[in-house]
Amino acid sequence: MSTKLSQSDCIKIDKIFALGAIDVVNIEAPGRINLIGEHIDYNGGNVLPAAIDKCIYFSIKKNNSATFANVLSKNFNEGFSFDISVPEKPGEGWLSYLSGVLTEIAKIRPTKVTGFDCSLDSKLPIGSGISSSAALLCGFAKGLNELFELEIDDITIIKLCQNAERIFSGANVGIMDQFSVIKGKKDHFILLDCETLEYRAIPAEMNTNILLLLNTNVSHNLAYSAYNERRAQCESALEIITAKYPYVKTLVEATEEMIAEFKEELGEDRVKRAIFVIQEQKRVEATVQALENNNFELVGELLNQSHDGLQNLYEVSCPELDFLANFAKNDDRVLGARMMGGGFGGCTINLIDKKYVKSFVADITIAYKKACNLEVTPIPVKINNGVQKI
Ligand code: GLA
Repeated sequence: MSTKLSQSDCIKIDKIFALGAIDVVNIEAPGRINLIGEHIDYNGGNVLPAAIDKCIYFSIKKNNSATFANVLSKNFNEGFSFDISVPEKPGEGWLSYLSGVLTEIAKIRPTKVTGFDCSLDSKLPIGSGISSSAALLCGFAKGLNELFELEIDDITIIKLCQNAERIFSGANVGIMDQFSVIKGKKDHFILLDCETLEYRAIPAEMNTNILLLLNTNVSHNLAYSAYNERRAQCESALEIITAKYPYVKTLVEATEEMIAEFKEELGEDRVKRAIFVIQEQKRVEATVQALENNNFELVGELLNQSHDGLQNLYEVSCPELDFLANFAKNDDRVLGARMMGGGFGGCTINLIDKKYVKSFVADITIAYKKACNLEVTPIPVKINNGVQKI
């Protein structure tokens, strides 16, 4: 059970950090983008994410108590005091995510973490599909790892943060977000095989093109139940295929011919999901090649195709994302665009020559307002390193 800190206590704690107290660990934890490879991390696929230059900043220090922690969020302008040995319930907002990390760490390093104070300041918009939750979990876990010399390796941190996210968000998420937030590399995409966790850094040199996120500023609350439903549909489709083809271990290894063979048994929805997964995996491979050949027209085309599949086969888009993606697709200034992340809101990712950004943003802002009566928020991103001590 936590108690809310008074404003004066929050100010006191914040002052300690602002005055540059010694023995403070400072951490920056980035959000992530995903160029392509959506909803295939939990289907054994390859994905192409990257950490970005927008972060959550943590300051954390021991406070000499055995089990009491004080945490404050500058964004929410609130703080809590709580006993770290008593887990918070899911659904208690940002605090329950931090508590989830503590619970997961206690399973592998019992009694190692003692009382601490922590202040965090986020530059990541929540609910925009750039994984502010993975940044929160991974940054906090790395901060504790450093402060208490826990010596937990990166892969274990990635997995424990994934587990905390599953428990505390209710979505049975894959590993892409936590992996890219921890392992991101400046100016590179991370080509991650989500089955083996082997990865390769792919240079993100794109001539004069940049990646521009456009935030729909909507976040439909369908997201978590629909995410789990899609995942369950894929798992049951795989079971049907594996019964006849036991060498098919993950859905991305199935073929469209197999899906056609089991069409009746799978039913319309599972056929659509499986076809999307198989095609998206191929698009990731094609995108890597296109990047290596400097063929950015083709990268753009693959982004457009990915959106089409997410909208019509996987059905995780929403009218606002469709509007932005389709506007971009029909605009010659943009090479390609698609919704990014879990879906049902958040951002589109657009590949565009930097000379067109200003005029394109001006036009799409007006069009989006007219069509959806909403503001669009442009977020130009640069690719940066994963979680770092600063
Ligand atoms: C969310 C999940 C990821 C991944 C994406 C969709 O961000 O956390 O694991 O499944 O959705 O690609």
